[in-house]
Amino acid sequence: MAKLIGGLGTSHVPSIGAALDKGLRDSPDWKAFFDGYIPGQEWVKQHKPDVAVVIFNDHGNTFFLDKVPTFAVGCAEEYRPVDEGWGRRAIAPFKGEVDFSWHFIDTLVENRFDPMICQEIEVDHGLQVPMELFWGKPDEWPVKVVPIFVNVIQYPIPLPSRCYEMGRVLRQAIESYDSDERFVILGTGGLSHQLQGARAGFVNPEADQAFLNDIADNPDKLAGMSREQYVEMFGSEGAELMMWLVMRGAMDPEVVVRHKHYFVPASMTGAGMIVMENRASVAPAAAA
Ligand code: DHB
Ligand code: FE
Repeated sequence: MAKLIGGLGTSHVPSIGAALDKGLRDSPDWKAFFDGYIPGQEWVKQHKPDVAVVIFNDHGNTFFLDKVPTFAVGCAEEYRPVDEGWGRRAIAPFKGEVDFSWHFIDTLVENRFDPMICQEIEVDHGLQVPMELFWGKPDEWPVKVVPIFVNVIQYPIPLPSRCYEMGRVLRQAIESYDSDERFVILGTGGLSHQLQGARAGFVNPEADQAFLNDIADNPDKLAGMSREQYVEMFGSEGAELMMWLVMRGAMDPEVVVRHKHYFVPASMTGAGMIVMENRASVAPAAAA
């Protein structure tokens, strides 16, 4: 059966991709941010996952406000990076894991989730940037992807607890998938940011740091919060953070944090990263 080897969380700010495209990785504004991801990249190199399930939101690039699915799952052979208005970026298309996508969709339906099924879809910075942050910019991606789209843009957005429940179903799907592939799950978005309205520019570093602790050690608390509490605490776009609960819901109650990084601001956002493994799959000496 397939194996879940870790849960990663990261911001997906689009200017991170633009900074890489412009060769600004080591510039004074960006170096500390990117250096914080080196241990995450090393973890990925060492653990060599075969499949990355990426939970993210589209930002009006693939779905516009006229048609927004609450949850959508990609089941395509390939996902091209969408043109977000500045031309297509020079990054390789992402290869799909089609059989698992269908198995996951079926497992969702068995568990009374009814996702939109996408056999042809492009992916925006919500998926591109996290992949680049952990895998760099290879000519060909060494992992296949399963994109899960969550509506955190057009109200009413789903409940944080519903995202957490979806994570449990994702775990069930991985564990019942007849394959020896190694899976990693990426929760993306956040941390605190608000790009619009009276509080535009709002960030909340204290709440962000608490979130990075709670996602590991107290996820039930985060799952029990209301949507309004997310907006109030993390900003209107910071509500993206509830997507990390899909990743966390797929993991054991007890996890070990391998790496964590926080940097503020990246663009208008409190930017965070975490790498977690299930405590049960970690050798006792290493977990101490
Ligand atoms: C920014 C952050 C996001 O998560 C996003 O989707 C778009 C923009 C920003 O801080 O600029
Ligand atoms: Fe976003």
